[in-house]
Amino acid sequence: MIRNKEQKWGWWFLLPLYPYNQRATIRTEILKNQIWTFEQPHGLLYAVVPIRMTVIKLKEGGLLVYCPIASTQECVKLVRELEAQHGKIKYIIHSTSSGLEHKIFVPPFARCFPYAQVYCVPSQWTFPLRLPLSWVGFPQKRTKFLPLDWRESPFADQFEYHILDIDLTQGSFSEVAMYHKSSYTLLLTDTIISIPDKPPEIIQLNPFPLLFHARESALDELTDSELNRLKGWQRVCLFALYFRPSMIDTISVEQLIFEAIKSPNRSRRNYFGLFPFRWLPQWQKSFFAIRNRLLVAPILESLILPQASQKVLNWVNLISLWNFEKIIPAHFDAPIQTNPLEFKKAFSFLDKTTTNPYTLYPSGDRQIYLKDANFIRILERNLVKLGIAKHPKD
Ligand SMILES: [Fe+2]
Repeated sequence: MIRNKEQKWGWWFLLPLYPYNQRATIRTEILKNQIWTFEQPHGLLYAVVPIRMTVIKLKEGGLLVYCPIASTQECVKLVRELEAQHGKIKYIIHSTSSGLEHKIFVPPFARCFPYAQVYCVPSQWTFPLRLPLSWVGFPQKRTKFLPLDWRESPFADQFEYHILDIDLTQGSFSEVAMYHKSSYTLLLTDTIISIPDKPPEIIQLNPFPLLFHARESALDELTDSELNRLKGWQRVCLFALYFRPSMIDTISVEQLIFEAIKSPNRSRRNYFGLFPFRWLPQWQKSFFAIRNRLLVAPILESLILPQASQKVLNWVNLISLWNFEKIIPAHFDAPIQTNPLEFKKAFSFLDKTTTNPYTLYPSGDRQIYLKDANFIRILERNLVKLGIAKHPKD
């Protein structure tokens, strides 16, 4: 890959996620002269998905930034172009307390825009030591917590918000859902995703991870074609969601080494030819079961949200009172054209008293989803045993 100085990300070692020190940025205008998204690739090993920040123009001029991403030269330049046209950044919203993959970007981003106020969701925490925000790089004099009541915020005339805060054993899972009233847009971080059919543009800038996963074994060439990009994307999504999807087998160590020696590509980038996966026939059914709909990621569905089901349902109900037409989350597809009813339905798994047939009699897609999420449930049991997670309360 050609090294691009403008895409260099020097703080990559704080959380070493792919693509490490090189991060491309794509800016997209979602609503003319009002809303823009900034996307970068991001993932564990080669399970790469988009990570996104959203920028909204304020009524009085100036910008609000929700969920900052890596402030590479390229990213900052793209933001400055908006500032030149629409006014400087006034507010930076750090929208989560648990999403380390978002938190690490906030202090460097805030330092690039020293006139902006930083608003964080409450219940911030660090691990293993509890450190004040200023010790992890947040600018002390201009960092505040979002007031619990949105009416007390300085942007209440344009945004309403509701904070979800779930107490986990080692810290809190928090996220702020923000509603931009004039554009009927809901901003979320990790609680909702929608998986697009095709690989997003930001992931296709460097298709290597897609081609890596498109192979059937280490003996296949890495061939760039539209079909391989698509196949790779479907598999990447299954890895990103389930960590270990039900439709893969792994091979023995002997076979792994044997195939690596015979692999046509033994470069470091190709993990020296090591490729331990075998996809089972009909694996694509797993992808078709989760694409193009509002989805709560299985790690949240199994492990985190059931810790406080009623609290989550109350939060969902409050959000459903807003008249939103689109959601912009921090990962996968955006904007998602949707409505409050669809949003509510995505969380119906939490409602144990429901008579909703969707929950009581899972569809074929839902059954596939539950089977694929089995590894997460095993993970949950192990985390509970180790005392890192708790059994669901409700
Ligand atoms: Fe995230």
